[in-house]
Amino acid sequence: MSLRKSTSLQHKGRASTAELTAAVRANHQRNPVRLFEDPLARFLCGWFWRLVVRLRPLYWILVKRVLRAIEPVSLCVLLRARYAEQALESAVERGIDQYVIIGAGMESFAFRRPDLMSRIDVFEIDHPFTQSQKLARIRQAGWTIPSRIHFVSADLTRISAVDALKGSGFQRSRPTFLTLMGVAYYISAEDLNQTAESIARNLPEGTLLLLDYLLDETSSSAEHRVMKEKMKAFVAKRGEPMVAEYSLASMNGLMAARGFDTVENLTLPELEQRYRIPQGAWELEIPSIFAVGTFRVTARPPQDA
Ligand SMILES: C[S@@+](CC[C@H](N)C(=O)[O-])C[C@H]1O[C@@H](n2cnc3c(N)ncnc32)[C@H](O)[C@@H]1O
Repeated sequence: MSLRKSTSLQHKGRASTAELTAAVRANHQRNPVRLFEDPLARFLCGWFWRLVVRLRPLYWILVKRVLRAIEPVSLCVLLRARYAEQALESAVERGIDQYVIIGAGMESFAFRRPDLMSRIDVFEIDHPFTQSQKLARIRQAGWTIPSRIHFVSADLTRISAVDALKGSGFQRSRPTFLTLMGVAYYISAEDLNQTAESIARNLPEGTLLLLDYLLDETSSSAEHRVMKEKMKAFVAKRGEPMVAEYSLASMNGLMAARGFDTVENLTLPELEQRYRIPQGAWELEIPSIFAVGTFRVTARPPQDA
């Protein structure tokens, strides 16, 4: 996995995108029509975002005026969170008992879902910079860390997610549920290939990988392309450029070449239709900028066959 230049701006960029996603989830809790319940998200925000989330006019000014370019990301953050958690619930019902969150950021799952935590081991992999911030916030909140959560601190530009899990209690022989949410656009296609390949090569059939990604030019309308370019310029300026985009077909192809079957692969507007989000829940039309997919390990990567 990439982002080869390891500058302090990039460390901050990573931490601040994690922070921003927590702020999006925290603010969403004020919405009467909720797509995703995360009452703990605000505790994982830093002081600035906690203040912004508490003071609605401030949030409004900041998000509607200053951060307008990244509004589509907010929709993606909530939709992908709901998508991943519903898929996890079904996977746990089918007997999967390991959940690996690659690039976990300020995910509050382990503290929010004691019902699932009693049935699974959760492995949160993140950059040491982001993870230490998160652990400090957990301490500050006074939360008890569940015994079945395992924090794995790793710079994925240097080590694969699968190798990073060594020594954490993770069992490679067991089918696993993995998510790579909010990450695939920040890493090159080559690095996504390597990540997928190391999962398919080392974990058993039935393992699931869920990810969201940026749609390429061929997949968006002209209007959405403009929105996407503004969003990309905004995040690049803050140290975490979005470097990779795919069509639905090219993502299916990438995953198939690495030994995955596509369970499903859909654009956010398609996902929105599945959830039948009531009118008025969003002020924005959900743009066709992002997609989410579920891919299942079915075979060893082709070169091993
Ligand atoms: C946009 S956040 C996504 C957080 C969360 N998965 C979500 O869906 O809201 C991206 C996460 O990827 C992590 N990340 C980015 N580059 C990384 C690297 N080289 N090694 C480890 N983690 C990295 C960041 O620290 C951050 O937590």
